[in-house]
Amino acid sequence: MKNFTRLADVPHPEALIAEAEACQKNFWMPEVGRGKMLGMLFFNPSLRTRLSTQKAAANLGMDTMVMNASSDGWKLEMQDGAIMDGDAQEHIKDAVHVMSQYCDILAVRTFPSLTDREADYQEQVLSQFLAHAEVPVVSLESAIRHPLQSLADVLTIRNQGLNKPKIAVTWAPHPRSLPQAVTNSFMEWSSLLDAEVVLAHPEGYDLHPEFAAHADRITHNQMEALEGADIVYTKNWSAYGDYGQRLSVAEDWTVTAEKMAQTNQGKFLHCLPLRRNVVATDAVVDASPVYTQARNRIFSAQAVLKTLLES
Ligand code: CP
Repeated sequence: MKNFTRLADVPHPEALIAEAEACQKNFWMPEVGRGKMLGMLFFNPSLRTRLSTQKAAANLGMDTMVMNASSDGWKLEMQDGAIMDGDAQEHIKDAVHVMSQYCDILAVRTFPSLTDREADYQEQVLSQFLAHAEVPVVSLESAIRHPLQSLADVLTIRNQGLNKPKIAVTWAPHPRSLPQAVTNSFMEWSSLLDAEVVLAHPEGYDLHPEFAAHADRITHNQMEALEGADIVYTKNWSAYGDYGQRLSVAEDWTVTAEKMAQTNQGKFLHCLPLRRNVVATDAVVDASPVYTQARNRIFSAQAVLKTLLES
């Protein structure tokens, strides 16, 4: 494995999942990454991704350097060939080459603009890292994918030991426009689960066809998706067609205990952070395994870092 930015980067997904499962059982491997440095650059906020990846690196004996791009560094120019007589003091190309001198693996979080669909779906920032990094690159969530989250989600669902589960992937309300990345990525990685995947969202919230194609069925009726579901994977996202827009509030899509009662004793999953009593009610969240799901972010990151170090 050369980089970890999408499922297609992983030559042997089953081996990576097995590595993550091994990390769940015994995470302490201080010799694997001794003397190695992980550099993490955040263009956007994070709690889980930042801390779980640092913890994963520590489990491997790696050191980490973490920067918030917006507050700690120079303002970066993203456009190739730009005449840099504006605000930006450093070109991303130079920053990435320089960070490659200090680090054995580089990791970056970069959210979409949600205003320019073409630029977002071309992964403007991540592609600069991939073009100029001299070491492996890990996505800590990009404009359109969140593969570390998806690997943890696959691990969490596999751990349930279900036989051909029904997974309802449901949109839920949110007061802000959010990226499509988590759902896109989950749909992509759901191909590793021997499951029936039903995607539910209000009209207008269709995903990019490449990601929607992983659904066995798409419905605008949330209860039809939730009925008999073993897993209720919940997330808000903004529109892909009417790009980045909140088209409808759809408050009746909040996941409630009454709706969960119609599932097959289904497990509610969410990547977090979550707006309680908007996305899902307190009762649903408090009865769910979302903290175990968040814990699995450590083992997802550890398996990825270990595989990259050993590749
Ligand atoms: N799920 C997730 O990526 O959380 P953070 O945004 O807090 O890292």
